[in-house]
Amino acid sequence: KVTLLADYEQPAYLVDEALLQFDLDSAKTRVVSTLTMRKNPQGPEADCILDGEALTLVSLKLDGKKLEGNQFQRTTSQLLIPNLPDKFELEIITEIEPDQNTALEGLYYSGSILCTQCEAEGFRRITYYPDRPDVMSVFTVTIVADREKWPVMLSNGNMEDQGVFDDGRHWVRWHDPHPKPSYLFALVAGDLHVQQDSFTTQSGREVALRIYVDPENKHKCDHALTSLKQAMKWDEDTYGREYDLDVFMIVAVNDFNMGAMENKGLNIFNAACVLATPETATDDDFYTIQSIVAHEYFHNWSGNRVTCRDWFQLSLKEGFTVMRDQSFSADLNSAAVQRIDDVNGLRSMQFAEDAGPMAHPVRPDSYIEISNFYTVTIYEKGAEVVRMINTLVGDEEFRKGTDLYFDRHDGQAVTTDDFVKAIEDANAVDLSQFKRWYEQAGTPELTIDTNYDPIEHRFTLTVTQACPATPGQATKQPFHIPLAVGLLDKSGTSLDMQLEDEAEPHHGDTRILSVTEASQTFEFINVSSEPLASVLRGFSAPVKLKYDLSNHQLAFLMVNDKDSFNRWDAGQKLIINILLELVADIQQNNPLVLSSLLVNQFERILTDKKLDPALIAKMLTLPTENYLAAQMTTPDVDAIHQAREFLKRNIAVSLKGLFNQTYEKLSVKKAYDFNADDMAMRSLKNVCLSYLVASGDPLQLQRCLRQMKQADNMTELLAGLRLMVDQSGLERENALRSFYEQWKQDRQVVDKWLAVQAASTLPDTLIRVKGLMKHEAFSIKNPNNVRALIGMFCRNNPVHFHAKDGSGYRFLAEQILVLDKLNPQVAARMLGALNSWRRYDEQRQQLMKQALESIAEQQDLSADVYEIVTKYLAAE
Ligand code: ARG
Ligand code: ZN
Repeated sequence: KVTLLADYEQPAYLVDEALLQFDLDSAKTRVVSTLTMRKNPQGPEADCILDGEALTLVSLKLDGKKLEGNQFQRTTSQLLIPNLPDKFELEIITEIEPDQNTALEGLYYSGSILCTQCEAEGFRRITYYPDRPDVMSVFTVTIVADREKWPVMLSNGNMEDQGVFDDGRHWVRWHDPHPKPSYLFALVAGDLHVQQDSFTTQSGREVALRIYVDPENKHKCDHALTSLKQAMKWDEDTYGREYDLDVFMIVAVNDFNMGAMENKGLNIFNAACVLATPETATDDDFYTIQSIVAHEYFHNWSGNRVTCRDWFQLSLKEGFTVMRDQSFSADLNSAAVQRIDDVNGLRSMQFAEDAGPMAHPVRPDSYIEISNFYTVTIYEKGAEVVRMINTLVGDEEFRKGTDLYFDRHDGQAVTTDDFVKAIEDANAVDLSQFKRWYEQAGTPELTIDTNYDPIEHRFTLTVTQACPATPGQATKQPFHIPLAVGLLDKSGTSLDMQLEDEAEPHHGDTRILSVTEASQTFEFINVSSEPLASVLRGFSAPVKLKYDLSNHQLAFLMVNDKDSFNRWDAGQKLIINILLELVADIQQNNPLVLSSLLVNQFERILTDKKLDPALIAKMLTLPTENYLAAQMTTPDVDAIHQAREFLKRNIAVSLKGLFNQTYEKLSVKKAYDFNADDMAMRSLKNVCLSYLVASGDPLQLQRCLRQMKQADNMTELLAGLRLMVDQSGLERENALRSFYEQWKQDRQVVDKWLAVQAASTLPDTLIRVKGLMKHEAFSIKNPNNVRALIGMFCRNNPVHFHAKDGSGYRFLAEQILVLDKLNPQVAARMLGALNSWRRYDEQRQQLMKQALESIAEQQDLSADVYEIVTKYLAAE
């Protein structure tokens, strides 16, 4: 069944108050829901329809009177009650079975913790309810349970009262004064350790901060608490947003479909996205945790206080909140590195989605299963869209706009149009053309042509835009694109920019051009010498750039550009050019030669004392095989692998002395600390080590083992292990065995152990992966295990996943069918590995198609897998 944006109607009935009582029990949980409801004066004339799935209905009462079976209608997903008065109270008693819930939606067990996940449509698995975000209600929740088994019982808002019964049970009542949609409801019960802290808001409200974890994880909460306080402060300083309850709680659970969930006052986290110690988590983990804790916290305003009218508006909260967490991370860490990582992620994941069969606009107009639309397009491209609005209107103006947005829509469920309108109204700007970014799918392609007239001293920059067709959208209108540009002279100095009709030149390195036409020319006057244009600085718009620069020009920008992002990007483009030439040589059996230009530039970067080591590390990192595949018309996975290995090995051999020196210089012994400088040093050190090992010198393997042995932190230990797993031999097996022996009690670390093995380039990797699925460390019911092992193999091991015999594809298809019966959301995610199947060679396409068909043929597929598999197989 397809849901269409065009069919949106206001709800017929509203819920003013929801009183929920939960009687928790291992097998059966009883839910008594008392709803104070009324007819929506703005709603359509229609019967009252409540959503409900996998529920046992015990009884139904209208204003205290029991309703008989002939007074309502039930289907497998709805409860319809006709002939209702304008105002009434409904009491619904249902039973649910949390221990049967493997889909991890609604109320379920994670280990011995009972917890919920309601976004997007999980609340209907708890009780009958108008389960849509535009129905906002005040919730009061009472939980009753055995006191021994569930000493801690949590829900949204502030705790009001609690007590004990004589029979060993106890109860607690939570009240959330802020009206909210059902998707923000949460309940947690278990024997949990609590780590406490506090934060005083700018207006003086004292907020208790609590992180609840399994007792074994009690030493892993500090970083999340620090991150939370940083986020609370940042949102006050940057957006003027203050927290609004007396307590803010985070709970860590081991079984979770996504990263985390922003339930009002009670965020629930995938344990991997919140727990960390230096010994068990890498710098990347620390970094990600800081950003996810902030992301969920920021939702308190962008998502909870102002929520979405319907799920087509998902990017209203997700795009904006990702944009907010990205600028938080940029402010707290290295802004350049943050931008590089964000763009890298966008270009490798979202561009592929935009070019594939699931391409959809930031505001989609139809879906079968909304869970399938928690995508990189909604999140990451959505963030870019908000970022572009900020770029176009300016920082102060953007803040004025968001102030108006929060003020105007507090307590409402609104649309992306409302968001844009608030920015427009606050600043008297017109963003009507800009809104096409919300409506049109696909990645625009910008072609840049330049010309310099040495006599007139004029520099012309012509920008042409086009956007490829996407499913359901054959043609596109021009986008409104902020294009950040700088001009450099031969010595690398920035030139002033003055457009033809301007009286004054623009000083400063960068200016933003506003591109609105299909083809548009910008004339710069008084340009004294021939410049080199650095365009799309900071990746000012999510577009593909066609700008033909020679390898020498790229090499020049790589060391001279004023914009750190473009320096990195020029380097990446240079490397890609060189790798693609190597791929062509491999395909034609030509001898391979190393580019001395690249080696020279690498040497300059590596010895540049002014460059941030974190940036050096990024610049020396070769693009992934997947990203290279995306740059080819028909990816040649084996040639790409070979080319990349060749380049890496030969750079390593050429610059071995320098890598060695840098590695030694960075090997100063000091206690681990999570700060930008130390992180930068560790990342550069590990890049050096990876080149040294790539050089093929067996002594370097000893160095790698030494690093593992001496490491007091997971960043250095795991970097070593990653390099070891690509080496065949006894030392590899020993390293893996001792790593497991040391860490088998720790789930987060064991997932890393699974993932490194799944990513190994050694020939027997698939057999190993299959073996690991039978290991005590793996359970197919645990999403983190599945992502670490199966996900890693299918998405980040292209050589083996795309094996010519089709074994990788068959393996994936088999696992998806098993997973679909247990957890449709996770099954559907895994299918993403086949997103680009039509881009491959004939033989691989056939094999991938067979894999997809073997899934499509099955009876009783979930809506999740059904939607993706049919869209993948649909005719081009
Ligand atoms: N809103 C959450 C976040 O981005 C993710 C929601 C999880 N959704 C799901 N269908 N499991 O922070
Ligand atoms: Zn979010």
